[in-house]
Amino acid sequence: MTTRTRILTGITTTGTPHLGNYAGAIRPAILASQDANADSFYFLADYHALIKCDDPQRIQRSRMEIAATWLAGGLDVNRVTFYRQSDIPEIPELTWLLTCVAAKGLLNRAHAYKASVDKNLENGEDPDAGITMGLYSYPVLMAADILMFNAHKVPVGRDQIQHVEMARDIGQRFNHLFGKGKEFFTMPEALIEESVATLPGLDGRKMSKSYDNTIPLFTSAKDMTDAISRIVTDSRAPGEAKDPDNSHLFTLYQAFATQAQEEEFRGELLQGLGWGEAKNRLFQLLDGQLGEARERYHQLMSRPSDMEDLLLVGARKARAVAAPFLAELREAVGLRSFVNPVAVAATTKKKAAKAARFVSFREDDGSFRFRLLAAEGEQLLLSRNFADGKTAGAVTKQLQSGQALDVRSEASSFSVWLDGEVVADSPAFADSASRDAAIEALRVALTPIED
Ligand code: TRP
Repeated sequence: MTTRTRILTGITTTGTPHLGNYAGAIRPAILASQDANADSFYFLADYHALIKCDDPQRIQRSRMEIAATWLAGGLDVNRVTFYRQSDIPEIPELTWLLTCVAAKGLLNRAHAYKASVDKNLENGEDPDAGITMGLYSYPVLMAADILMFNAHKVPVGRDQIQHVEMARDIGQRFNHLFGKGKEFFTMPEALIEESVATLPGLDGRKMSKSYDNTIPLFTSAKDMTDAISRIVTDSRAPGEAKDPDNSHLFTLYQAFATQAQEEEFRGELLQGLGWGEAKNRLFQLLDGQLGEARERYHQLMSRPSDMEDLLLVGARKARAVAAPFLAELREAVGLRSFVNPVAVAATTKKKAAKAARFVSFREDDGSFRFRLLAAEGEQLLLSRNFADGKTAGAVTKQLQSGQALDVRSEASSFSVWLDGEVVADSPAFADSASRDAAIEALRVALTPIED
């Protein structure tokens, strides 16, 4: 049994990552993925991007830039599962299953939707003016992202906590309706990195694209210098003592400096280092730490087919988890094969175990026999004849005890043995594959439920 913590997070692909994204989300996520106990799933939330953006060019560019940023930043794709949401068809399919159990009233309360409604009302418009079903259902898609992989921890910004709570709510409801005592979905927890300060932008407010105050991350050294030169400082002249604790330039420096570098810089500012020179120091620090990654970024961007390959491998890894799980969920809601009930029974171990049952009856000659019926009602076994009910009962008891089953295959059927004697036989099967599937179903049906 693995006890690794599954950490999952998505990045909406609408922009170009800046320094604040890097320090606040990307760098901590890459570090967290290096922990031996972490089983990380990181993905490009490009279906979510479509909700906010209808510019195909921008969607495409952003997906590449974000992928390249994470890879250049040191994400090890052999350790983590790194994929594009839109490469996993199981996600929209699960979204629908969840949509059918999600309460509309729950989604009415989503912050993002409510904010849009409020804005419409303020402007005297229809409450739902310009609001798409994509925006409205955004939390259900996000719930599918999270629940599909049974994530334990979901690192997100504060604005996303509500969505993780909704994922719990929707997942719980599904468990309750279809789990029959089994918890299909793990309850995820939002993980808010308190220690990671949000970086201030050029003007001292939170660094954010919407404030137009960002420092670019990997575009070019020149872009970075230009942005740094626009950091707002006070008007103290060179030679005058500066106040590091009231300078967001210093805060930016701190986010990338070692303790020793930070102390040295603080001392110099107190001694009157000029702001121009201080900006120069900040650039040197950032360039030293990010210069190599910038090189890697441009290499990746110039060879998109390498990234495509890496992401397709990631998608394959993710689907190896998602596809069998979704098959189980489809079965649970009643989307089942018409023709192969035995195989279906084999995929739902616990349910089959629960529902399989022994039915005893008496023959005309007075002997006792029993049948073992699987969950769906088909006959798995018919016993031989026993002289009395007690013996027949003891045999059924022994078969359910969890001891290793002695199953012996014949051409088109099989029999079950106990203490050197045949006690029951299967029906005849069309071929050896269906015989083997039935043996598997029998083992599942006779596995004791441990809970
Ligand atoms: N909505 C998230 C954001 O904008 C992105 C996201 C999509 C996500 N799916 C997710 C985050 C699943 C965590 C888990 O930040």
